[in-house]
Amino acid sequence: MHRILLLPGDGIGPEVVAEARRVLGRAGERFGLDLTFEEGLIGGAALDATGSPLPEETLERARSCRAVLLGAVGGPKWDALPVDVRPEKGLLRIRKELGLFANLRPATVFPALVGASTLRPEVVRGIDLLVVRELTGGIYFGEPRGREQRDGRRRAFNAMVYDEEEIARIARVAFRAAAGRRGHLTHVHKANVLEVSQLWVEVVSEVAREFPEVELAHQLVDSCAMLLVREPRRFDVLLTGNLFGDILSDEAAMITGSLGMLPSASLGESGVGLFEPVHGSAPDLAGRDEANPLATILSGAMLLEHSLGAPEAAGAVRQAVARVLEAGARTRDLLLPGEERPVLGCRAMGEQVLRELPA
Ligand code: IPM
Ligand code: MG
Repeated sequence: MHRILLLPGDGIGPEVVAEARRVLGRAGERFGLDLTFEEGLIGGAALDATGSPLPEETLERARSCRAVLLGAVGGPKWDALPVDVRPEKGLLRIRKELGLFANLRPATVFPALVGASTLRPEVVRGIDLLVVRELTGGIYFGEPRGREQRDGRRRAFNAMVYDEEEIARIARVAFRAAAGRRGHLTHVHKANVLEVSQLWVEVVSEVAREFPEVELAHQLVDSCAMLLVREPRRFDVLLTGNLFGDILSDEAAMITGSLGMLPSASLGESGVGLFEPVHGSAPDLAGRDEANPLATILSGAMLLEHSLGAPEAAGAVRQAVARVLEAGARTRDLLLPGEERPVLGCRAMGEQVLRELPA
């Protein structure tokens, strides 16, 4: 029996997780996986109910489950809170507590959606890249951090800190991924300004010796952001730290058509994996049955592959998504400006995917 912990969270989280749960349940039946689902609180929902964005009970359950499927956290209701007690803190803490240092964010284009990108089809067709983002270090967690009053003025500070072991272990994840793909790894950094990036360049180059079959390039983050919109197909695997990875993965997602399509997996030492869509809580769409559940459904596919060792089931889910899109099913975010098509809601889109799963 595989216990899956669902953490719907805030905004559109509950709606998209509900659809992914249905799809996972069906895939489990079809492929003989014995899945059971439990639900827990995280983010603003947890804050309101318990006073903490990550209640101890949620963390304990996550530790004992096979995998966690998370929706999204945050929303305007909690926007005025200091960073330390915000819904986002719940997400950051669960990543840290479970040791989930490796965040995999694949960005691919479904052929049916080539036209949905704001970039020209010939630029977009065939994009197939993987962002490997370090997830438990860097400026998100560095000390010292804080705010103070100095000479009558408000100051605030954060520190970007990495040690060589943190860099080496995420680098190995990225090299292994590249070795299983097209064999190109681009390390993204800001070593012309930051000491911490210079250390990344050094350590990544050292780790490269263990992977002679992978071709390594170092790329400055600003020019990488530019190349991603100019020539995205040049990239295979991108390796980077927490902050640059956050920014570049949204960019990579958007050039493929919609932020509503991109899944992610966060893996680490503990054996528990956490799977979540790259998009956020989209409060403006919440409760309207308008969200796109496909990123969460595809995160479910990553869960099947990475946590349950069920690549066939994962492939079946991905194929079902591709077929639904080929048949013309679209949520609102996937429509081009001016495009006339019937629009599906979140629930109906989930239903279509269910229907396409093999009997
Ligand atoms: C992401 C999100 C989170 C992050 C937020 C919600 C804390 O933007 O997963 O990319 O910055 O990591
Ligand atoms: Mg982000």
